[in-house]
Amino acid sequence: MKIARFSRIGFILAASGSAVGLGNIWKFPYIAGANGGGAFVLVYLITVLAIGFSVMIAEMLIGYLGRKDGVSSFETLAPTQKSKWKYGGFMGVAGLLIMTFYSVVIGWIFYYVVLSVTALPSSVAEAEAVFTTMLKEDIVTQIFYHTLSFLLITAVLLRGIKGGIEKLNIVLMPLLVVIIGGMFLYATTLNAFSQAVAFMFVPDWSKLTSTAMVTAVGHAFFTLSLGMGAILTYAASLPKSPNLVRSSLIVVAMDTGIALLAGLMLFTFLFEYGSEPSQGPGLVFISLPAVFYEMGSLGTFLSLIFFLALAFAGLTSAVSLTEPMVQYFIDRFAWSRFKAAVTMGGFFYLVGIVTLLSNTTQFGELLTFGSKNFFDWIDYITASIMLPLGGLVMAIFVGFTIEKSRVEAALKAELGFLFNIWYYGLRYLIPIALVIVMLHQLGILTL
Ligand code: TRP
Repeated sequence: MKIARFSRIGFILAASGSAVGLGNIWKFPYIAGANGGGAFVLVYLITVLAIGFSVMIAEMLIGYLGRKDGVSSFETLAPTQKSKWKYGGFMGVAGLLIMTFYSVVIGWIFYYVVLSVTALPSSVAEAEAVFTTMLKEDIVTQIFYHTLSFLLITAVLLRGIKGGIEKLNIVLMPLLVVIIGGMFLYATTLNAFSQAVAFMFVPDWSKLTSTAMVTAVGHAFFTLSLGMGAILTYAASLPKSPNLVRSSLIVVAMDTGIALLAGLMLFTFLFEYGSEPSQGPGLVFISLPAVFYEMGSLGTFLSLIFFLALAFAGLTSAVSLTEPMVQYFIDRFAWSRFKAAVTMGGFFYLVGIVTLLSNTTQFGELLTFGSKNFFDWIDYITASIMLPLGGLVMAIFVGFTIEKSRVEAALKAELGFLFNIWYYGLRYLIPIALVIVMLHQLGILTL
């Protein structure tokens, strides 16, 4: 069987498309806002460079050398066939779990694309009412748009790596960059721009709690799509001689660039119209639409293209969250792509409905366990535990288990004298940092 591979640019766009997602445009600004801005952003940037970039290279390497789904790639690269290392590949399950809320949020975004042209809320109070009503009462609307999201994502996955995923990214990624870049340029012309720069880049160390630092590490993994085999699965379809280091660098740069541009742009708009940056998850769904309303017809246009860009970012990430498990069933159980895509899509669709209901007044209580509802549990378990754990497994696997000579053969030419820094960082520094983060997340360690 001939396997369709990415073209080089297709891979870069698909991997960037995976990384640039709701995490960049929806989550990053609100967690930066909630954690006081500057100091948090600095910790995030350092983590992305010192940990994220290294793990990205490692994850790409596993996929590139393994050439198969996550489980099979770990298995072929492990020293013995029966090795337990193959379980490292099961982190793909985290992707499906993330999808159970990711698809729901993409649904909200579709709804806001429609609202942009039909009925932008005219004040923050009204915007808050619109969002809360959708979230807590309007089950039908949420299921409708979640269904749309499921159908689109599954349709792309059905068409495979080349005809589906690569095409989607080649079309949507440039559009996304143009929209966010254009809106950023507009933001630079507004008075509040300098205030936004100060908020994002001047650190106020008093605001930097240990929780904020740990949040920054968790977010670095989430935003770079690390730790569950998304990048691994894409890298398995890389063309030969792929420049893994350069590809990783481009993906990291794109991801960070879009997050910073989106953040600066959003905060400029919010400050220009006197909104608060520390709003939490409702930031782009509540404060921002009210600001767009204030801007008049320009605002309607900006709102439309902003939510479209957010939808594009979400869709290109969503396919990468689902593809690892699709690939797994194709490679290991010889399922047809059709069967695998529909089954995985069906899984996140159905569980997604439970996730969605857990936010509603009607079913919320039923679906709340301890301190969190189902939606928040999934977010917490995946982003705070499974992704760092997956990253830890990958770092140790590449650092200690794959023969050093193979790792060197793939990377030495590109990394040069930096190879040893990367390699020993992966062996010691990164595992220690990740273990600290996970212990903190689990509440076992307080810093
Ligand atoms: N990186 C994406 C975002 O920022 C989400 C995502 C896509 C992801 N694929 C992933 C997160 C794999 C973790 C693992 O929204």
